[in-house]
Amino acid sequence: MSFWTRHQIFEKNSIVLIVGILLVIAVGGLVEITPLFYLKSTIEVVDGVRPYTPLELTGRNVYVREGCYLCHSQMIRPLRDEVERYGHYSLAAESMFDHPFQWGSKRTGPDLARVGAKYSDEWHVTHLSNPRAIVPQSVMPGYRFLAETEVNLNQIAGHLRTNRAIGVPYSEDQILNAVADLKTQTDPDSAEADAFAKRYPKAVARNFDGKAGAPTEMDALIAYLQMLGTLVDFKLYNEKANLR
Ligand code: HEC
Repeated sequence: MSFWTRHQIFEKNSIVLIVGILLVIAVGGLVEITPLFYLKSTIEVVDGVRPYTPLELTGRNVYVREGCYLCHSQMIRPLRDEVERYGHYSLAAESMFDHPFQWGSKRTGPDLARVGAKYSDEWHVTHLSNPRAIVPQSVMPGYRFLAETEVNLNQIAGHLRTNRAIGVPYSEDQILNAVADLKTQTDPDSAEADAFAKRYPKAVARNFDGKAGAPTEMDALIAYLQMLGTLVDFKLYNEKANLR
């Protein structure tokens, strides 16, 4: 058999062909993908991005549980209409601590990647309780039970620990104080406020749901919505980009 006719083995035997295809794809895949885990340049470091506070992480879990991602994306594409409507396009680093990420694939409602600080907390309480109180033709469901549901404090330290296991850099101090930090973020006058601010620089502590008492899921969800897209100072970012 000459060199050129040996190829018949693959063409006449489908199992050999399949094994051959798998081998070629495996080698190609390894060559393409393996370096990405080692190259520093694949992970862009951006100032300001930090892990979620316990309260924000709880709110994020409510967001996932209630399926908000089915109607809302959190990913602004670098297209002119999106940038003009929502703000600077999303950076990879902005979702580096997201497990799972919430980029979404459908926009029944608007993108939420930069909704933080766009509205007041009261606006969110009213809107989440009954969207039609603000936008009469809205098809978004109401979530008024969130204001009556207290946050389950038993789970939060475990959530932080699980996030750390998959790469989010929570310190032992942050995990040990998870419950205290969660409560403190809804109670800015608390004696713990300084310790909280030290563990989560620039995190905003407020009574998000406007009600006295234990933190509710409404507190948590609004704390999460209010920080979305606020971590990176794009003025600084654009200046640096221009200098390069
Ligand atoms: C059935 C689809 C649907 C679901 C599910 C849904 N929304 Fe909405 N959302 C909308 C629509 C439509 C709008 C625009 C009209 C309005 O403001 O109500 C909207 C608007 C919003 C806005 C205002 C955005 C802006 O920039 O004006 C926020 C914030 C929001 N939704 C948060 C949430 C959260 C949090 C959840 C989950 C608890 C959620 N939505 C679930 C459809 C949905």
